[in-house]
Amino acid sequence: MCGLMGYAGPSPAAPILLEGLARLEYRGYDSAGLAVLEGDRLRVEKLAGRVSELAARVRGLAWPGRLGIAHTRWATHGEVTEQNAHPHLDCHERIAVITNGIVENWRELRAELEAGGHRFRSETDTEVIAHLAEALAPSLGVAGAVREAAARLRGAYAFLLVHATAPDRLFVARRSAPLVIGVADGAAIAASDVPALLPHTREIVYLGDGESAELWPGGIRLTDAAGRPVARDPVHVPWSAAEAEKGGYAHFMLKEIHEQPRAVADTLVGRLDLSAGRPRLEELPLSEPRISAARRVLLVACGTAWHASLYGAALLEELARVPAAAVLASELRYGHPVLGPDTAVVAVSQSGETADTLAAVRLAREAGSPVLAVCNVMGSQLTRDADATLYTRAGLEVGVASTKAYTTQLAALALIAVEWGVRRGTLPPAEAAAAVEGLAAAPGALAEALRLDGPAADLARQYRFAYNFLYLGRRHNWPTAAEGALKLKEISYIHAEAYPGGEMKHGPIAMIEPTFPTVAVAVEGSVREKMLSNVSEIRARKGPVILLATRGDRDAAAAADHVLELPRVPERFSPLSAVVPLQLFAYHVAVERACDPDRPRNLAKSVTVE
Ligand code: AGP
Repeated sequence: MCGLMGYAGPSPAAPILLEGLARLEYRGYDSAGLAVLEGDRLRVEKLAGRVSELAARVRGLAWPGRLGIAHTRWATHGEVTEQNAHPHLDCHERIAVITNGIVENWRELRAELEAGGHRFRSETDTEVIAHLAEALAPSLGVAGAVREAAARLRGAYAFLLVHATAPDRLFVARRSAPLVIGVADGAAIAASDVPALLPHTREIVYLGDGESAELWPGGIRLTDAAGRPVARDPVHVPWSAAEAEKGGYAHFMLKEIHEQPRAVADTLVGRLDLSAGRPRLEELPLSEPRISAARRVLLVACGTAWHASLYGAALLEELARVPAAAVLASELRYGHPVLGPDTAVVAVSQSGETADTLAAVRLAREAGSPVLAVCNVMGSQLTRDADATLYTRAGLEVGVASTKAYTTQLAALALIAVEWGVRRGTLPPAEAAAAVEGLAAAPGALAEALRLDGPAADLARQYRFAYNFLYLGRRHNWPTAAEGALKLKEISYIHAEAYPGGEMKHGPIAMIEPTFPTVAVAVEGSVREKMLSNVSEIRARKGPVILLATRGDRDAAAAADHVLELPRVPERFSPLSAVVPLQLFAYHVAVERACDPDRPRNLAKSVTVE
């Protein structure tokens, strides 16, 4: 999630822009840059580094320009380099653009523009916007060019643009990614998030989806996609700066749980070819003989990422019919695993810096295994050690307990499994098309699952004094149960353990009694009846049961003490939404127990040492 800041007002822009970037640093970034207009001259500074370094560079320049844009980049396309840092310019360096989000069709647009003589300098998707505006402005004017450029883009984005021929105008446009505007003290300010505006105003104008706007010192004009004026009253935002960084949520973890529909949608953008009925994963060389020849797949990871790997392994076997297993990186690295050119390794890691996972990857590479990574941080060690990386696009995850990173890992692994199945011919076209449709619907199902926040909070209040929990799930949702138990353990410190439902009678059922609650996942699908049998055996022993079921499942509702109803989705993609009420339950139990969900005791966000 990049940070955007734009200013048009009576004061020198550079210090105000840099201060705004500093307030957006919590979003995570790897590069920073700004552009200031002085008359018809663009002044640009950018670097692959911190905002403080950029400020030091600019401080000595004393730029007088009173209009500009500034950016912090969380890399999604193109390495972490100064060249790829924003702002990006057109051929004649009279237009500067900064963007948050993903332009899905950037390759087609770039090819078209290069064919028209445009020369590109970076590997980013954003740069196409600068050249598109350059090509369109002569005939449409700058505002018209911004609208037309936005109309040509596919994806989820918000961008700010300045043009040397309009020295007192700042242009903005968005689709899906957020953009907020404030007007105060003769200035107009735009940003990707509220914290950057708070020093100037609490009266916030939210730009609507598909809208664009012109800003000038003390004024704004909003237009819809057709260029018609839009009237929009500002909203008063009562938050403190700290609250604003959490988007008004009490904790980063809760904010990140609620960001999951967007994070999963971003992870899928440009990777689902609905018309062809299959994924489109240019980033992964799955056709390369080294990978396509693999006779089995080992997924290696730790913690939550290992739970995602369990899901990925099951889906690879189901859809690609390739032997697959999820192995704890800490076990693999000290064991005697059978690795080699016929064993492909998929390393899953949010941070890309987890010591055990990196060690397991080194072992795999020494043995000649091809290594793919699923990772959330561009440029992290894992992405440098792997042969190729499929990036999750969760943005920065501040909460130590992983939430949006997990669901984006599930989405990424599902993409790989479907693609692998298509390439191996084990997934019939109709099933591949259905799978792609199912994945495309996942963000919506996640959004529906978030409506369980209230019921989850009620259950948390009722069960906050429990000493133990059992979590049960089967097949695709055994990892869901494991992840739900880990969430509860790591932020509320209540002991919780997860088992595949079929294991219950091989021991765990001995623990069941009225003070030992169970959370069971029994959504619509091939193992629902078996899970309901588990539930009835538990209740026969007076064990309380919280059941996750598909909406409208009356038998399930009658089977348990409490039911959390989830939207109906294809069984194989149900984990993406089923985990949400478990995340919410764990969060609210932690809050009820006065634990800090963002900074749980004894834990670090990334375990970079053994
Ligand atoms: C999950 O909530 C924990 N924060 C932890 O288990 C984490 O998933 C694990 O340390 C792996 O981290 P990684 O994904 O960055 O490799």
